[in-house]
Amino acid sequence: MIKARLIKLLIVAGLIASAAFSVVQANQQQPQNPAQPAAQQPPAGGGQQQPPPEPKNLIVLKGMARPQVMALMREWSAALGVECNFCHQSPSDTDTPRKHVARLMHRDYVAGMKHKDNSAVSCKDCHQGQPNPLRVQPFTAALAKPASGLQILKQEEVGQVMQAFTKALGVRCDYCHTQGDFAAETPRKQIARFMMTEFSGKLVKADGSNVSCNDCHQGHALPLARLPFPRRQAPAQQQPQAPAQAPAGTQPEKKP
Ligand code: HEC
Ligand code: HEC
Ligand code: HEC
Ligand code: HEC
Repeated sequence: MIKARLIKLLIVAGLIASAAFSVVQANQQQPQNPAQPAAQQPPAGGGQQQPPPEPKNLIVLKGMARPQVMALMREWSAALGVECNFCHQSPSDTDTPRKHVARLMHRDYVAGMKHKDNSAVSCKDCHQGQPNPLRVQPFTAALAKPASGLQILKQEEVGQVMQAFTKALGVRCDYCHTQGDFAAETPRKQIARFMMTEFSGKLVKADGSNVSCNDCHQGHALPLARLPFPRRQAPAQQQPQAPAQAPAGTQPEKKP
């Protein structure tokens, strides 16, 4: 008797838990509806409140209680201008490529860096409501402008800085430059300039030391493509299918 009631109770709890998640997700599908925490669902019968499930798969937010996690999730979604399913597939503890990127950015950029004036870095500072902030910069449009040579560096520091760039990104000079014309503008020169002013120029590490290209790039031009997961799909698409579960680490790295 008691056992049967207990099982029934557990089933009801499970149903509420999964309903709670879909409610949150459903709310997120409607950008006009401010997401209501699922916890405000009146508990079905019984009268006693069913706590929503505690997060099971936290790595960078370890120790954070569910309400804080949910508040942060709404902040991240707004900062990137996306819905929950940009990063998540149900259930929300499943890992996805974009969850890995978000973890990296939270740990290394937001928690690991600050502005030079000591204020905190947030996702919004770089993303400004865009999932792909680099794509909305007028990098190629600026190509129409005549070549303008040095805009940031002084002539005497060019040699040393260029050596550092090639090392930090693991590339040759012609990754950014047109052969034979270093002064000519290219889209990658423009991205490099943007990173010089917006990232290494404005941010410092949590301990106050300088942020260099290498702190984020670590020898790779496309650091996100080097993370230990399949390369992300085009941004408009839904979560990419997880490839037929090859054991971790055995997958050949996809070239960007
Ligand atoms: C930019 C990517 C991103 C977006 C957008 C996002 N999440 Fe998350 N979410 C994550 C990551 C990463 C974690 C794991 C954090 C960690 O490892 O500590 C997570 C964890 C969670 C968890 C805990 C899962 C568990 O059991 O471990 C829940 C619940 C959750 N998110 C719900 C949401 C909801 C609801 C939204 C929309 C309001 C949302 N998320 C939007 C990246 C995202
Ligand atoms: C210092 C700047 C910076 C900060 C801070 C930052 N990001 Fe990013 N993020 C980037 C850049 C640059 C890209 C690559 C954009 C592109 O390719 O246009 C990116 C890409 C991403 C992507 C991959 C998008 C895709 O198409 O798959 C995710 C997810 C992401 N960021 C999540 C976050 C989250 C969550 C935070 C806050 C915890 C955050 N980022 C903070 C700079 C930043
Ligand atoms: C990651 C991209 C990147 C790489 C790799 C790179 N450069 Fe540059 N280079 C730039 C940018 C950006 C500028 C312009 C800096 C400015 O506006 O102050 C520049 C400027 C220069 C200039 C000055 C051109 C002028 O207008 O007078 C020279 C010379 C130069 N680079 C040589 C090199 C050499 C040699 C290498 C290889 C060792 C190299 N660069 C690798 C991005 C790069
Ligand atoms: C706060 C982290 C961060 C710092 C610091 C940083 N970058 Fe980046 N950079 C990124 C991210 C993230 C991307 C997008 C990579 C991806 O899509 O895999 C990127 C992309 C680039 C690209 C475009 C590569 C391509 O082929 O599309 C260039 C060029 C570049 N960075 C140069 C630099 C240079 C030069 C510096 C130092 C002055 C620098 N970055 C500093 C995070 C950073």
